[in-house]
Amino acid sequence: MMQLIRGFRDILPGESAHWQAIEEAARRLFADFGFQEIRIPLLEKTALFARSIGEDTDIVEKEMYTFEDRKGDLITLRPEATASVVRAYIQHKLYAGDPFHKLFTIGPMFRRERPQKGRYRQFYQINAEVFGTDSPLIDAQLVYILMTLLGRLGVSGVQAHVNSLGCPVCRPDFKAALMVFALGRSAALCADCLRRKEKNPLRLLDCKVPSCREAMAQAPEMGTYLCPDCREHFQRFLSALSRLNVPHVPDSRLVRGLDYYTRSTFEIQTHVPGAQNAIAGGGRYDGLVKALGGPDIPATGFAIGLDRLAEIVKKDSQSAPGRPDVFIAALGGKSREKAFEWACRLGEKGIFAEMDFGDRGLKAQMKRAGKLDARYVIIIGESELSTETAVLRDMAAARQEDVPFSLLLGTVIERIGNPH
Ligand code: HAM
Repeated sequence: MMQLIRGFRDILPGESAHWQAIEEAARRLFADFGFQEIRIPLLEKTALFARSIGEDTDIVEKEMYTFEDRKGDLITLRPEATASVVRAYIQHKLYAGDPFHKLFTIGPMFRRERPQKGRYRQFYQINAEVFGTDSPLIDAQLVYILMTLLGRLGVSGVQAHVNSLGCPVCRPDFKAALMVFALGRSAALCADCLRRKEKNPLRLLDCKVPSCREAMAQAPEMGTYLCPDCREHFQRFLSALSRLNVPHVPDSRLVRGLDYYTRSTFEIQTHVPGAQNAIAGGGRYDGLVKALGGPDIPATGFAIGLDRLAEIVKKDSQSAPGRPDVFIAALGGKSREKAFEWACRLGEKGIFAEMDFGDRGLKAQMKRAGKLDARYVIIIGESELSTETAVLRDMAAARQEDVPFSLLLGTVIERIGNPH
């Protein structure tokens, strides 16, 4: 038997209803806040991700699905969406006229991580990116949008972890202090941290290896190194969150796994113990548009992990297929052809008509109609064919009537009361 690839998965019908509910809620919310959809390719040049996410990150070092195409160009299945959205923003000069853009995109990402519950190699994200302002109010609004979405989906008890990663003015000093601190503790660090302590010492702050955690417990904190501008920016971010009543906790260890961040960063974590508790993360990336060859335009955004969110959202009511408006019970080949034609015509009018494609008797078909909880049943057999009159039965009222074929569809559409 063929099996799917490790770390990949199928979203089966019952589950996909939860996914649809989340995606619909997200689309509605984005519309409420003036976001427009952008759709970007699954494949991009490898260099795009290496330059934006950073050469020394886990994602670029070991998690990307990268291969040569037939001409030998290196291409990569997107491990995240931000880099591609920025590329598109620059390439299509979306900044011309008005640099301010609020964009969203929903789709699969690919990272070759060790699979476990809540962590997949193809996973899905809902992304929001805002270009053209460095205001901390927009950062707060993004967190607010995230929390509102979770609230609308019935997810409670979550809080935002927030931090500031500073800017090119103040971060180098912080990095240098971290490096010096880490050098003194080299003996306790894992191989990854040892390798990264010079190029990317921030990553040492969120290493999950216990000996690294212990060694870095007293490490310097970015908060004490923020320059006056970044300090004020962070304060305004925090006070906007407070004014919006968004539950949040400053978390100086929140460094995120991607290198493009500046200033505000945030993550929404659930209380589920274990490493896979982040359902969303994001932050400001003021230098990325310029770094990828565009003008100097600040930007900020987030991504929600749809797989993880779907696991939390329980929306049982939508996990079964919809109730048919009509069930057409047909007896004999000719009747079934007629039934089939009606089912198609009703479907086209937005009325869900189910039927039996086998050769079962009337009793079995009526039983199925009952099980599916159809509102009406149309019965058509030999005698109905000869008189060109079908039986239309209202299941709840247990009432039935004869309706001429010529009037049948019109009558059903009228009764269902929702013709399109
Ligand atoms: P990220 O933190 O790498 O950020 O991913 C965002 C969310 O995607 C995570 O919080 C998690 O819920 C989900 N996620 C990540 N990896 C996996 C996985 N292997 N399996 C299941 N879910 C996963 C970014 O990707 C940034 N681009 C977010 C951003 C947008 N920052 C600014 N704009």
